[in-house]
Amino acid sequence: MNSISPTLTGGHLQRGTPIPPQSAANGYDQNWYPVCFSTDVQKDKILGSEFMNGRVIVIRGADGTAQVLSPYCRHLGADLSDGEIVNGAIRCPYHHWRYNDAGQCIATAVKDSPPADARLFRFPTRETLGFIWAFNGEEPLYDVPQFQLPEQDLIMRREFSVLTEKDHFVPYSNSSDIQHLMAVHHIDLDVNPEEVTISPHGMQYVQTMTIPGMGQLKQEVRVFGTNCLIFMSEFMGRPVYQMSAGKALPGNRTLSSLIVATPKSSGAPGEDEMIDIALTEGLKFGNRLFSEDTLIMKNLSFRQDMLTHSDRMLARFLGYVRDYPRTSIACDMIS
Ligand code: FES
Ligand SMILES: [Fe+2]
Repeated sequence: MNSISPTLTGGHLQRGTPIPPQSAANGYDQNWYPVCFSTDVQKDKILGSEFMNGRVIVIRGADGTAQVLSPYCRHLGADLSDGEIVNGAIRCPYHHWRYNDAGQCIATAVKDSPPADARLFRFPTRETLGFIWAFNGEEPLYDVPQFQLPEQDLIMRREFSVLTEKDHFVPYSNSSDIQHLMAVHHIDLDVNPEEVTISPHGMQYVQTMTIPGMGQLKQEVRVFGTNCLIFMSEFMGRPVYQMSAGKALPGNRTLSSLIVATPKSSGAPGEDEMIDIALTEGLKFGNRLFSEDTLIMKNLSFRQDMLTHSDRMLARFLGYVRDYPRTSIACDMIS
């Protein structure tokens, strides 16, 4: 149904046109990416972390606000994660130039004034749901992912641990891929592709899953950018949220996080046990889906020229991915 390219060109058989890889040349999707856990970043330390085609540093300013910045000193390129926080400034390990938490170089260690352009790239940064997120761009194009209930009313469990050796659109197209849900995960999914709301930076729809041993589960699904999904369902009469978001890593790899949340206990008898079961089962379910996909993802070479009727939902998601804005504005600064 969705013929992206001919299968026969100049006498050679061809598969469909690939979605261009995330790279400095093609750009990276303009998403909010979870960079690290909130607890990984202490006030007096500089955290270095792989991100997109290179690395970033994550710091906390004097008021504790997290900031994600390009990591290479504008002088000769030392990695600032090898430096220190000195009197509230990031101090380069090499010649001790100092940067404020907005990424501006404010002093050298000699009498020279710092060049006015000696500035690190400052990613829009937010801290929610136990993660520090960076937006790939100068200004965010949408709000950082949040659950429908305020964070302080929820109890959460999170993991940040599943590595997929593919760009994030591959694992995150998975939930629209109905044929694989049946074949690999034994889940029967009912969703109407015509009833999906698509905006430039998100999607929203309702689906019903039939899971062996668990029965039917109605879910509200929200897609944020091309790397984050939130599912809201009811389990034993209480709302349960599941979120997975992927961080783009060098080598077209994706590190996925998984969060499960439910409202905090009101203290009613037996509620704590129910919460424990909901969170444990939620994480177990998410991990099962990821682990069943791992080997297939590793060797998969994605094309989409042979989609069939049951792939209509997947086709909508992939159309959205192909149209999604990208930028390489930070790429040279972080590599
Ligand atoms: S490389 Fe950082 S001060 Fe020289
Ligand atoms: Fe899957």
